[in-house]
Amino acid sequence: MSTHNACVGRAREAFLRVFGTRATHAASAPGRVNLIGEHTDYTGGYVLPVAINLRCAAVGRITYGSGPFRAHAADLNQTIEFDPRGTPDQLPRGHWGRYVAGVIAGFIGRGWDVPTIEVSVATDVPMGGGLSSSAALEVAVAQFVSGICGQEIDPREEALLCQRAEQAWAGVPCGVMDQMAAIMSREGHALLIDCRTMETQHVPMPSESDAALVVFNTNVKHALAAGEYARRRAACETATRALGVESLRDVTLETIDAASSALSDHERRCARHVVTENQRTVTAADALRSGDLAEFGRLMSQSHASLRDDMRVSCQELDTLVELASACEGVYGARMTGAGFGGCAIALIEPSKSASATETIAAGYRQRCGRDCSIIPARASAGACCVAV
Ligand code: GLA
Repeated sequence: MSTHNACVGRAREAFLRVFGTRATHAASAPGRVNLIGEHTDYTGGYVLPVAINLRCAAVGRITYGSGPFRAHAADLNQTIEFDPRGTPDQLPRGHWGRYVAGVIAGFIGRGWDVPTIEVSVATDVPMGGGLSSSAALEVAVAQFVSGICGQEIDPREEALLCQRAEQAWAGVPCGVMDQMAAIMSREGHALLIDCRTMETQHVPMPSESDAALVVFNTNVKHALAAGEYARRRAACETATRALGVESLRDVTLETIDAASSALSDHERRCARHVVTENQRTVTAADALRSGDLAEFGRLMSQSHASLRDDMRVSCQELDTLVELASACEGVYGARMTGAGFGGCAIALIEPSKSASATETIAAGYRQRCGRDCSIIPARASAGACCVAV
């Protein structure tokens, strides 16, 4: 709750200053890391994310007037007016307001009579760092809208609404993992999601005395990220069609080999990553349940290799972090997390070795990449919430 309180506090202060009155409702939603199951959600595969102790807050009130919708970003000290019944191009591409407006537009599209509101947002999730800052913002706003309207929405419908907002208003063809994690996570647990059926299972995380989960932010974001993400998704879709199946879940490595003349090299590699990653994710969830951290760590490392060599979404900075981590005593496993091309890597470490391993990794990264990484000790945290204040 402390991270909820911190960002809600900032958002409330800014709300009072900018709008001259008190907010009546406060919502917050967490960022996430994905333990394993990368680039599989948009093909209906398995993912195993965990919500972390960094959150985004949305606070505000109904204005009961005829004025425009208004939103303020406390971290940027920026206020906008917008019309959620209008189109995305009322705001520049990449603008944070598109996520806010897109989510409200989603509720209106469902037939909700959303009153005119003023909202202030504040986030602890680093923007564009691969920890799902955008999903945390979308979900915080969705919880706020649902709270202020006094209406419930099914959590899966809410995740899909937020995903659609990101696709239609921000132009990112993302899967549904990040939004599901921000909504449905439970403290102390990872969330196994079957992205085909949207079924979920809460898998207990190791206690803090058994393992430390450490996030290393490369502090780089390569410009090609958005275009390359879309290219991976497109390759998976054409491979699925060429293989004549509904989902890459329905094929094996043998099927891919047998059909290799129907696939380009890029499609074959992407399909192979998805097939092997789905297997690894299911096995990893079992290893986590049975407390087999050595096996879990091995699967993390294999996942990274597959993302680097088959899916080809890693980069030099991520590979360096993973290589440095894998060479440290006490590290069970390490891998890139999220879409790739920069952003963050994670490592699962024996608690007594965590401080020295972290130091070695940070020093090696500085030496080899010529910049500092940021280190975030992660705790498996609860999903979104909204309260009247
Ligand atoms: C981003 C997307 C997710 C997922 C990951 C890769 O975080 O938003 O839907 O596809 O990349 O696993």
